[in-house]
Order: sequence, then C-alpha cells, then structure tokens
Amino acid sequence: MHRYYGIQKIICNFTLFYDQVKKMRLYFAPVQGHTDAAYRHFHALHYGHINPNAKNDTDLISSGSDNVIYTTPFIRLEKEEIRKKESKDLISDLNRGLEVVPQVIFKNEHELRRLIEILDSEGHKHIDLNMGCPFPLQTSRGRGAATIANEECHLAVSNIVNEYGNIHFSVKIRLGYDKEEYIPLIENLNSLKLDYITVHPRTAKDQYTGPLHIEAFEDIYKRSKNPIIYNGDIKTPEEAMEIFTKYSDLGGLMIGRGALARPSIFREIISGEEWDSERRRHELLFFHKELLNYYKESLIGGEHQVLSKILPFWEYSEEEIGRKAWKAIKKSSNMSKYLTALTLI
Ligand SMILES: Cc1cc2nc3c(=O)[nH]c(=O)nc-3n(C[C@H](O)[C@H](O)[C@H](O)COP(=O)(O)O)c2cc1C
Repeated sequence: MHRYYGIQKIICNFTLFYDQVKKMRLYFAPVQGHTDAAYRHFHALHYGHINPNAKNDTDLISSGSDNVIYTTPFIRLEKEEIRKKESKDLISDLNRGLEVVPQVIFKNEHELRRLIEILDSEGHKHIDLNMGCPFPLQTSRGRGAATIANEECHLAVSNIVNEYGNIHFSVKIRLGYDKEEYIPLIENLNSLKLDYITVHPRTAKDQYTGPLHIEAFEDIYKRSKNPIIYNGDIKTPEEAMEIFTKYSDLGGLMIGRGALARPSIFREIISGEEWDSERRRHELLFFHKELLNYYKESLIGGEHQVLSKILPFWEYSEEEIGRKAWKAIKKSSNMSKYLTALTLI
C-alpha cells in the first residue's frame, strides 16, 4: 500500500515538474575504478542514453536531456604526459555517441596547463576541473580538495579558463579540506564563465559519509553566478525529484554510487516512471552480463583478471540486490561461484 502510494506520488510530482526536469541535465559522476569507457558504453546502450546517430558534439547536445553526461574519473599528469591507460579510455571507440567530459586533477598552473594543452590538442571541447577529490594520495600532493583553499590554484584556473576561450570548463568541488573554506573559491569562479560547478556538500575529511552540509550547499547555490549541479547521496528518483523541487534554478543533478547501484535511475527520472524492483533487477543482471562478456573478450589475463574488474561494480548494490546475493558476489573466488551468486538476485 505504502509503495503504491509512493509511486502515485512520484508520478504526480513528475507531471507537475516534468518541464522543469526536462531543463535539467543529468550527470553520471566519475567514480575511479568503476566508470571506465566500457562501463559508460554499456550503461548508455542498455539504459538508452546514447544517440547512435550522433556524428559530433552538436548532435549530442541537440538531442537534449535524454542523454546522460558522463565525466571520466580524474586524469593526472605523469612525466608531463597523460598516462597510457587514461588516454586509451578517452580515445576508446566505446565513447562514440556519448557525451563524455574528461576530468583533470592538478596541483598548480604547470600541471593544469600541460593537461589542458594535451586535451586541447586532442580536440576536447569541454573539460572538468577536479577541485574536490579527498583521496589522501592526491590531497597530500596538493591536488583535489587541497586546491580549494589554494589561491595560486584559483589564479591558475582563472588564467587557463580565460586563455582557452575555445573550451567549455566546469569545476567539481567539495566544501573544503577539513572545514568549510569554499567562499574565496566561489568568488573567484564568479569572475569566470563556467558551464557549471558541481558541488558535493562534504569536506575532504568527511570522505563520502556522514551528514551532508546542506546549509553550505544552499549558500553556494545562492552565491554562485555559474549554474550549480547538486551531487550527493541520491539513491532514488524520488530523492532526485525532491532536489529538483527544492532548487528550481539548479543546472542539474549528478549521481555516483546511487547510479552504480541502480543504473536505471536516470532513465526512471527522465521517463517519469519508477521501475519496480523486479524490473530493475532483471535489467541490472542483463547489463552486468553484457559487461562480463565484454571483459571476457577484451582482457587478456584470464578469469582472475575479469573477476577483479567485474566484482567492484557491485560494491554499492547491497540495498538494491539484497544482502545475501551481495555477500555471495563479494566472496566469489572464481567465475563459476560468481555466476551462481548472480542467481540469488
Ligand atoms: C571510489 C570512488 C571514486 C571516485 N572517483 C572520483 C573521480 O575520479 N573524480 C571525481 O570528481 N569524483 C570522484 N568520486 C566522487 C564522486 O564523483 C561523487 O562526487 C561522490 O561519490 C558523491 O556522489 P554520490 O553520493 O552520488 O556517490 C569518487 C567517489 C568514489 C566513492
């Protein structure tokens, strides 16, 4: 009874706010180790976020809000170049027909400039700047969330955005490193024309858990002259609707772990129809089997390598598929055990 009411309510909300939803863009968050080219491709193909006829960016953009925008996990500089694995991911044919935004992480103007120079020479027209990553390996080197309060990095961003007028830029931020320190950054970004700023309302110290700092998000939403994308803890279409309803001037919504667990979430939001759990599980299995087949064909290291690629994709799915199946998948030590574990879904 309660669930039925929930569905009715969401459909009613969708009818009311459908035009508003249509104006907003939906973004699949970059998740290192998960959202690689194959994952993006099969996700888009399976859940209908691909424009198979797109020949260029204009086609993709004009196809509008049916498409999800994918940001790549961060790309960093190593010996003055982009690492081979990341380059391969970016130029992969699997990106065809998808709106993919490369994201860079940097600690100073030199790194940022070199990364943009390379991506510009490869023809990328939109680049996302990571100013929020909380991984200690990056922050201890001055990258990601360590750039939020670094005025030299603010200046570097201004210089690069102003210099590369041919490229669209967006910035992905947190609130600060161990406390809220975003105000000077937002003021600096207000002097630039960005496509959007994605805000995950936590500090780096919070990592990915604990309460979201919603007041700080609202402060940024009010202060920013650039469009704001909300990002944090969205797991259901209903939660997405609540955000849309509450912040009508939002540029869009980015979903990470919630979309890895429930990859249909964007399709459900776009169509205004919440899928029941049976349909979600059925499609999820189908999608994961497509991924498995792809990795079986493309990875040369055998079963073990395929499993080590595929198992992390289930990391955030416990609620979606149930504890029993989730634990069995996690414990699968060979392909046969993995396939048996899938039957528990
Ligand atoms: C394992 C992991 C890897 C991530 N990798 C990146 C990354 O490469 N770049 C980035 O901007 N954010 C990264 N994020 C952060 C997500 O993009 C997102 O901001 C965060 O998970 C909050 O959104 P969610 O609650 O919808 O998952 C990562 C998050 C996780 C959990």
